[in-house]
This record gives sequence, C-alpha cells and structure tokens, in this order.
Amino acid sequence: MTSTAVAHPNIALVKYWGKADADLALPATGSVSMGLDVFPTTTSVTLTGQQGHDAFTLNGRVVDDGALVRVERFLDLVRELAGSDARAEVVSDNTVPTGAGLASSASGFAALAVAAADAYGLDLSARDLSRLARRGSGSATRSIPGGVSVWHAGDDQASFAETVPAPPMAMVVVTIDDGPKEIGSREAMRRTIATSPFYPAWVTSTTVTVDDMLAACAAGDFTRIGELTESNALRMHATIEGAFPPIRYLNSRSVAVFDAVAAMRADGLEAYATADAGPNVVVLCRPEDRARVASALDGYGAVIESGTGPAAHLLRSEGSGENPE
Ligand code: ADP
Ligand code: DP6
Ligand code: CO
Repeated sequence: MTSTAVAHPNIALVKYWGKADADLALPATGSVSMGLDVFPTTTSVTLTGQQGHDAFTLNGRVVDDGALVRVERFLDLVRELAGSDARAEVVSDNTVPTGAGLASSASGFAALAVAAADAYGLDLSARDLSRLARRGSGSATRSIPGGVSVWHAGDDQASFAETVPAPPMAMVVVTIDDGPKEIGSREAMRRTIATSPFYPAWVTSTTVTVDDMLAACAAGDFTRIGELTESNALRMHATIEGAFPPIRYLNSRSVAVFDAVAAMRADGLEAYATADAGPNVVVLCRPEDRARVASALDGYGAVIESGTGPAAHLLRSEGSGENPE
C-alpha cells in the first residue's frame, strides 16, 4: 500500500533556534510561523518487506547519505508507535529549494509524518502528527497545522503546534541562492548554543517576543506583527554570527533586500523582512500589497508571492480501501 501526503514550508515570524532536548527535539523557546501556499512537498511511503533498509528518493535521486539516515531514524519512531518492523520506500519531491533556508526540512518531514503515519496504519490526531513531525525537524512541527501557528515549548506531550487567530497576511519570497547551505540548521544551532555568548539573551528575549507576537496576532495588529518579525530575525542572525567559528547566513544581497524593504516602509508601503537559516529573504506584507512588494523587489532575486497555506494532508491512500480525496 502507498500513502501520499503533501505539506508546505512555513516561515517563522518568531524563530526557533536552539533545542532544550536534542533527542526529543524539544525547543528552548516557543515560536510562531506563517505557512506558505507555494512550494509544496509531496511524499509517498510504501511498505516493503521486513528485511534490509528503508529506501529514500528525493527529487528523482536515490539518497544514500545523512539525509537517508535521518529518514530511517524518523521511520524507526513510526515503527515503534505502530509496533511494526516493516521497511519502507520513501519517494519525495520538493518544489522548495532543499537546504537553502526556505524550510525544506519543515515541508519534508511534515509530509513524511502524514504519509508514514497512514502507511503504518496509525490514526493520529493533528496534535500527535505535529509532535511526530517535530522528531524529524523542529520546524516541521509547524507545517502540520495551516495558517499562522504557534509551536509550544514544553515536554514531549506539550510541545506541538496549532493554528492561532491572525489577520490576513502574505509573503514575498526573494530567492537569492537556491543552493544548499554549507552548514545545516541542526549543526549551526548546536554551535550557537555551545559558543555564542548571545545565546542566553536570545532565549530570554524570544520567550517574551512569542507572547508579544501572539497578542499582536490576536489583536490583528499587522504593524506590530511586522516589527516583531523583522526584529526577531535580526536578533537570531546576530546570535548565530556570535558563534565560534562564526556562521553568517545573510550575504550582501540579502542585506540589500532588508534595505529595500526599509525604503518601501519609508515610502508608505508597509512590509517587513525576515530570513531563516540561509541567504534568502522573505518579506511579510498585507495581502493587498503583495503584487506591489513583489514588483519593487524584482531584480533582487527570483521573486514569488505566497498567501497563507493549508494544513498538511493526505492526498491518496492506496490499498487500504480509503481515499480521502
Ligand atoms: P532547510 O533550510 O531547507 O530546512 P535544513 O538544513 O534545515 O535546511 O534541512 C535540510 C535537510 O532536510 C536535508 O539535508 C534533508 O536531510 C532534509 N530534507 C529536506 N527535504 C526533505 C524531504 N522532502 N524529505 C525528507 N527529508 C528532507
Ligand atoms: C532558522 O527545523 O531546520 O528556520 O530541528 O534541527 O531540523 P532541526 O532544524 P530546523 O531549524 C529551523 C530554524 C529556522 C527558524 C524557524 O524555522 O523557526
Ligand atoms: Co530546516
């Protein structure tokens, strides 16, 4: 039987950067994000025999490196929950660049969580799917629910993501470099915790910012949401740059986008810039302004507009007698 699921990346408005527990993938702080309606990942899981290894094909290529190990460790958790020792064949296609700071690990592990849970016959609540996706990649926790979501800090049971009320928003993605980063998020996070003197201040300040962001979302205060978003992104990058040896994800072209966005604001077009762990910049704006923001950023990189995305969901479940669509 083959189960196929789709999930979208999410871009953090308040970032997750640091684990309190690496084994359980528990974050040091809460975080808040907006799901995208562009760049879906589609993943199929087919159970094979009891023998051998899992197989993983990503974007048409057989994977045999650390990314396969990561998928196998994730499937081990699913097998444990299901009481199964069946191996699986995973076939995934990202439309988002992989490893470029546009959240491929989020859409990737959210889609895998939904597809694998179905293939192994688990009937999980949205909350438990979010907890499961967390074990693959922290940011994947927030790609299970749709819309704007909060990922709660807490213990294994309490650390999941759910949709929160928020005003209508859009994002304009400016892709400056679609190649994979030299240092992946996981390793960069570890180094930041171990060596950046700014890390404790990052944790205390972000804990406050999560509450401020949730209040701004509930109040529908777009200006406050934007100000907090840009500030929190720059604080995260400053904290990462404080690591030793230093890690710098933003390049001169990324900074040029931040400057262009500040110039838009000075001109009365309200937009705010953010960036995850990579050089690509994502600009938050009101839905009615997205075309104007996109055209103002033309020439800074490949520009794509996005609305607020749907929850991760099952597309097909073949061989079980069920078909959700
Ligand atoms: P990103 O900024 O794209 O999230 P990360 O460094 O966090 O970059 O994660 C990249 C890693 O996520 C890849 O090397 C791979 O291990 C994993 N990944 C990406 N896409 C998928 C996918 N569709 N299915 C499974 N794992 C994936
Ligand atoms: C900068 O979720 O990719 O995008 O949990 O180790 O897989 P792992 O890391 P990952 O880190 C995302 C960091 C970020 C901020 C965010 O998405 O909140
Ligand atoms: Co990631």
